[in-house]
Amino acid sequence: MTIQLSRRLILTGAAGATLAGTARAAAVKKEEAFPPEVLAHEHALLGPDEGVALLARNENPYGPSESALRMVEYAGKKGAYYPGQANITLAEMIAERHGVDPKQIVITTGSGEALSAIAVLYGPKGPIVAPRLFWDTTALYATRLGMAEITRVPLKEDMSVDLAGIEAAVTEDTGLVQLCNPNNPTGLVSDSKTFKAAVKRMAKKTTVLVDEAYMELADDPDTNTCVDLVKKGDDVIVSRTFSKIYGMAGLRVGYTISSEETAEKIRGAAMSWIAGTGLASAIGAYNDHKFLDYSKSKILEARQMVLDKTAELGMEALPSQTNFVYFKSGKPANDIHELMKAKNILVRGQYMDYADWTRVSMGKIEDVERFCAYLPEAASA
Ligand SMILES: Cc1ncc(COP(=O)(O)O)c(C=O)c1O
Repeated sequence: MTIQLSRRLILTGAAGATLAGTARAAAVKKEEAFPPEVLAHEHALLGPDEGVALLARNENPYGPSESALRMVEYAGKKGAYYPGQANITLAEMIAERHGVDPKQIVITTGSGEALSAIAVLYGPKGPIVAPRLFWDTTALYATRLGMAEITRVPLKEDMSVDLAGIEAAVTEDTGLVQLCNPNNPTGLVSDSKTFKAAVKRMAKKTTVLVDEAYMELADDPDTNTCVDLVKKGDDVIVSRTFSKIYGMAGLRVGYTISSEETAEKIRGAAMSWIAGTGLASAIGAYNDHKFLDYSKSKILEARQMVLDKTAELGMEALPSQTNFVYFKSGKPANDIHELMKAKNILVRGQYMDYADWTRVSMGKIEDVERFCAYLPEAASA
C-alpha cells in the first residue's frame, strides 16, 4: 500500500517535470506578490536582489524543479491544515530508494534541524570530534547552549580530512564524530575505502555522523555514501538535504538515515514541524531524475569555468565534488569578499585562519561568468 502510494507520487512528480522551474517562479512578479510597503524595505527578500550574483551560500538557483513548484502551489492552498501524512509519505519514498525501513528516516526542517538535534543529543556525552574545517553551524549551536565542546583535528597538508588523526582523537568518551563528505568548505570527497573503513572502526566506539549534504553532486555517490554502513548496523547517522542538488534551500527539508533506535531519539529532539509546502515539494521533486541530471550538469558546467579560470591565473583550487570551489587567491579572503561585493558579486569571507582561501558557490552560469571575469582584477587589486 505504501509503496503503491509512493509510486503514484513518483510518477505524478516526474510526469509533470519540466526544467522551467525558475521561469515559472518568475511568472509571479515580486510587485504582485508583496505589498509596496514591504518592497520599499526589501533587502534580499527571498533571494538576491536584481543584478546581484549570489555565490556565497551554496544554494542552487536552478531549483526548485517544476515538479516541486506544482506541489508548493497545491500545498499552499491547503495551508489551513497541518501537513498530515506527508511526512510519512516522504519517509517511505526515501526509504524505498535506500532499501531501509521508513522508521529509519527522520524528516526535518532542513538537515540543519536534524544536525542540531544530534549535536544536543550527543554533545553532553563528550566532545564532538571533527575536522578543523567542516560545516560546524549545528555543532556550534550545541556549544552555545553549553551542551557540547568541539575537538577539531587539523586538516592534512592537501586540505583533506585527516582520518587517522580523527581516529586517534576518538575514545569511548567521545560524544560524536562529525564528518562532512564531501566536506564544506573544501569540497573534497575522501577516498571511499579509507573513509568507510575509518568510520566503521570509529563507530565501534561512538556514534559517527556523516553529513552528506552534497553527496548527490559527487562523482560517485553510490560508492561514497555511508548509507550501506547504516544498513549493516554500524552506529552511523547519514544526513542529506533538499537544499543543494534539489535547489530547495528556502523550502527547508532534510533528513537522516540511521538505525530505528537512533531515529527515534533524533525525532524526539527535533524542534519544529515541517511546513506542508516543504514536504509536498520534496515529494514532488524526490524522484525527478530529469531535473536532478539537469541541475547537476549546470553546476558542473559552472564549476569547470571556475576551475579553468583559477588554473589560468595560477591559483590553487581544490578538486571540488560539490557546488562550490575553495581556492587560494593569494589575497585575504575578506578583501576578495569586499572587492567582489562592490561589484554586486557575493562570495564567502574568510574561514578561521585560512586567510587567503576563498569559497565561491556555483550560481547561475551568467553570475559565475561575472565572477570569473572580475577575479583577475580583484586578485591583483
Ligand atoms: C555540509 C552542510 N550540511 C548541512 C547544511 C544545512 O543545510 P540545510 O539545513 O539547508 O539542509 C549545509 C548548508 O549549507 C551544509 O553546507
